[in-house]
Amino acid sequence: MSDPLQSGGLLLSIRPDDGSGEPVYRQLAQQIRAAIRETRLARGTRLPASRILARELGLSRNTIVAAYELLESEGWIHSRIGAGAFVSNQPEDLAPPPPAALAEPLPRPEFSDRGRMLTSLSHATGSGRPVPFVADVPAFDVFPLATWSRLMAQSWREVDPSMLGYADPAGYMPLRDELARHLRAHRFLRCEGRDVIMTSGTQQSLDLLARILLDPGDAVWIEDPGYVGARSALIAAGARLVPVPVDTEGLMVDEGARREPRPKLIFITPSRQYPLGITMSMARRAELLAFAESCGAWVIEDDYDCEFRYSGAALPAVQSMDRSGRVIYLGTFSKSLLPSFRLGFFTGPADLATAFANAKAVVDKHPPLLEQVTLNAFMRSGRFAAHIRRMRQVYAGRQSCLLESLRRDLGDVLTVEPAETGVHLLAMLRPGLDDVAFCERARASGIALRPLSLYYLSGAARQGVIFGFAALSPKVIEAGVRKLARIFGDGPPRPS
Ligand SMILES: Cc1ncc(COP(=O)(O)O)c(C=O)c1O
Repeated sequence: MSDPLQSGGLLLSIRPDDGSGEPVYRQLAQQIRAAIRETRLARGTRLPASRILARELGLSRNTIVAAYELLESEGWIHSRIGAGAFVSNQPEDLAPPPPAALAEPLPRPEFSDRGRMLTSLSHATGSGRPVPFVADVPAFDVFPLATWSRLMAQSWREVDPSMLGYADPAGYMPLRDELARHLRAHRFLRCEGRDVIMTSGTQQSLDLLARILLDPGDAVWIEDPGYVGARSALIAAGARLVPVPVDTEGLMVDEGARREPRPKLIFITPSRQYPLGITMSMARRAELLAFAESCGAWVIEDDYDCEFRYSGAALPAVQSMDRSGRVIYLGTFSKSLLPSFRLGFFTGPADLATAFANAKAVVDKHPPLLEQVTLNAFMRSGRFAAHIRRMRQVYAGRQSCLLESLRRDLGDVLTVEPAETGVHLLAMLRPGLDDVAFCERARASGIALRPLSLYYLSGAARQGVIFGFAALSPKVIEAGVRKLARIFGDGPPRPS
């Protein structure tokens, strides 16, 4: 089996240095490997002794030893003490064994517990088409698209090459400074640009904050009824949700303390409670902060559509009253500009801002930079403020059109009051009517309504319906209400 002459003959054909620049021992190993692979060197063949081969090739013995050691470590050859080195493998020996003919492949692993939880919480975000009475979206027809695309093109034209790589996970600094100025002036926040962190919207702010601040099982107070997006993000982080009812002044702190005296976090929508539309009173804000301080809880303040106030002055944000660095203020451009931008921000204590930016780098690095540059230009030029002023007028008109239409055409089915702020109306159904059945019957005719009971966690639901108006022209609003009146003309649905 052993044939040193064969190997010797073959090895004499080796070119000691092919000029490739590779270390010579690697070139040598490569050529022997090729000879084995092509079966020019058969299994069991003894290779020339390193001393002899070194002499034949005019190389140092160390080079030959290094080549042999490399081949041995790869399994191509093996050495026997006192006998020399032998070819041990043919290519077919190195190939993976053929699969057993009848072996059934094992099933893939299941999703993780976390994955199952996360995917089961997903809620539809809608097609984006402004069908009546889609909620939570702004007016697409009044958005200054031409101005925006001009500013966007300008951002690309003037882009500094250093901005084409990865950017700061905390966001574009000039925009953060501009936002801080805006928030100090309009929401009386205490913040500097460095405390403002850009995110891809409130949903991401909530998701990452929940993951940074909460351990599984931690108690969180949440308004009942309340925002489903917040609920989902908190559940996904493993929080134990404690539903706290809302009265005419906002979240009932005394009732919350009775249900869970030591929450780790409290989630509120004080400017406009979602979905009831109540503004949290100053007294209740003070009570809530005092309670949070007494039990050491974080407070998350979701200020999602504070820009659209139609009467009276907006109350300062809760964050502006915070003296112990526990209130985290969330903002979004989903209502003031467009939801598809996926741009939002949060501001809170400096140590949290830094931690959040670090975590964000892990999750998605940073929001797209050029959109942030364009938004900065939009804000600095005064166009953002002008857009908000215009939208407030448009929305006031759309709201009163919806209010009048509902009172006129559906007054025997529901009652509705004007909203001081925001972009939806909440209509309460007459006693005995079922909001889920109401919305399902409307959906069958192409009308998108949301039942109030969907937003309750406790089960003690009031029966109402949410009507979005921001995205709809008065003509569409009137036609939609008339259609509803026809659907419910033969008697509205009652609980089965
Ligand atoms: C209560 C509340 N918060 C925040 C948002 C905005 O969320 P995002 O910024 O993720 O679009 C909405 C949108 O509907 C909302 O209703």
